[in-house]
Amino acid sequence: MTLVKVQNIMSNELAKRVFISKPPEPPASYILNDPTNSIFIGLTKIFRVPFTWTFANITNPHIAIVGITGAGKSFLVKTFLIRASYVWKANAIIIDWAGEYKAWVKQSGGTIVSLGKGDYLNIMDLIGIKPLDRVKQIMNSLEILTDIGDYPEQRRLTQEAIEQAYVNAGFNLSQPPDPSKEAPTLNNAIALLQEKLQEGTYEYPAELENAIYRLRQFVREGEDYFARKSTIDLGKLASSGLVDIDLSGLPDETFRALAALFILQSLKEKMRIEGWSASKGIKAIVVLDEAWKIAGDERSDAVTIVREGRKYQFALIVASQNPTDINEAIFSNVGTNIILRVKFERFMSYLQDSLNFSEFIRGEISKFGVGQAAVDMSFQTSVKFPEIFLLEKVIGEVPLDVYTLVIKDILTQEELKNPEISTEYYFEKISLKSKLIDVNVPNEAIDKLFASLDSQDRTIDVKSFASLLMSYGVEKENLISFFRYLGIEDVIITRIFAG
Ligand SMILES: Nc1ncnc2c1ncn2[C@@H]1O[C@H](COP(=O)(O)OP(=O)(O)OP(=O)(O)O)[C@@H](O)[C@H]1O
Ligand SMILES: [Mg+2]
Repeated sequence: MTLVKVQNIMSNELAKRVFISKPPEPPASYILNDPTNSIFIGLTKIFRVPFTWTFANITNPHIAIVGITGAGKSFLVKTFLIRASYVWKANAIIIDWAGEYKAWVKQSGGTIVSLGKGDYLNIMDLIGIKPLDRVKQIMNSLEILTDIGDYPEQRRLTQEAIEQAYVNAGFNLSQPPDPSKEAPTLNNAIALLQEKLQEGTYEYPAELENAIYRLRQFVREGEDYFARKSTIDLGKLASSGLVDIDLSGLPDETFRALAALFILQSLKEKMRIEGWSASKGIKAIVVLDEAWKIAGDERSDAVTIVREGRKYQFALIVASQNPTDINEAIFSNVGTNIILRVKFERFMSYLQDSLNFSEFIRGEISKFGVGQAAVDMSFQTSVKFPEIFLLEKVIGEVPLDVYTLVIKDILTQEELKNPEISTEYYFEKISLKSKLIDVNVPNEAIDKLFASLDSQDRTIDVKSFASLLMSYGVEKENLISFFRYLGIEDVIITRIFAG
């Protein structure tokens, strides 16, 4: 009798103690927030508590999202933006590398800015920023994107010419700009360098020539996207509702990265001038999806913004398939990390080292399906529970066009059990389309493919997928690139094409 009782007490005590020292999820008071000041994301896996995200109790509003292709990054971003616009009337600016968000933004009544297809940005625009600060930013972007950092004399000449172009246009370098004056363009800076070269008095003409050559790549006939009068009012970008900045029309990654860096810098400066205040909430959300080129570099504003935390009235969302493409400072400084399905062990180890989660969490992440996630939040006050927890699934707006590519039929028993190998891939129509375009599948073949998919539940096994596209004249090589891009291993790809 007594013994049983004692045992009861002990096991209760024990249960309590285990619970207190190691609760599996943060207490509901941290997860479930005031609905008028937070947005719903999904239910937690263990206690099914509705997780509602708010920037109020975390170190900063910035968010990093990682996950393999099809894991649900863009779906989460869209859900997030829509709800943030309801709750906070937050504006959103999507820096859209592949034109992936265009259709959705159009459908949602937002604005599309198509750089390289009719829209221009003058990277010397000031929008309230002192010319000297703008010059620093332009030089910083050139250092990230070109080799100018290796040539101090060329760097000096370039900077001097850009400064002089502002002076010639009537600006005082260290004063806030007169809004009635028009900003010069890179063409003006190049002209100054050319004049200097023609004068023939400068000791190192080769340095001048190289400096001119480097800047010219941004003003070439037909490629002068950044050297003409802007067609977008950057000063209004953060108050224009939902804006998609489609960079897919620019000629290459350098151009795209330059545009992205410039937009980030402009938003940052604009918001810095306006000053931060807690009562203003979140004015804008800036999305960088797959922005590997500018999220990886230490000197990038993506890193600065995250490091500087709450200073700006906007939240930066950085999403990537490959966490090693994102600077470690971003993972360790964002207020919220969201990990969707991750496949490769080395990516997982990178995340585990950066975020310091348990083997249990690692194991769970490796079993994730579409939309399942681990959330790691950095609370402002120090807490006695693990800051990472699992979400059963991101519950979002109903997907519009999901296409499923089924792999499992060609996998071995062994492979089916391996969590690193996907059995199915899910695509939004626009994202599947842009991936096929990336590997040079012609438009007619893509249209035929979708017509066929739409007549069969939008689901197809990978063998039929390949033979269908080949029957439309698509090269096997291009299909191989596509499958590799999805992360399918060569041994498995070989089976797709086997008899
Ligand atoms: N939580 C979810 N609930 C229901 N459907 C989802 C969820 N997350 C993603 N999906 C669907 O899965 C598909 C792939 O998702 P999404 O496009 O967001 O992937 P992604 O991670 O952005 O991939 P990529 O890296 O290729 O851009 C989409 O069709 C989307 O609608
Ligand atoms: Mg995506």
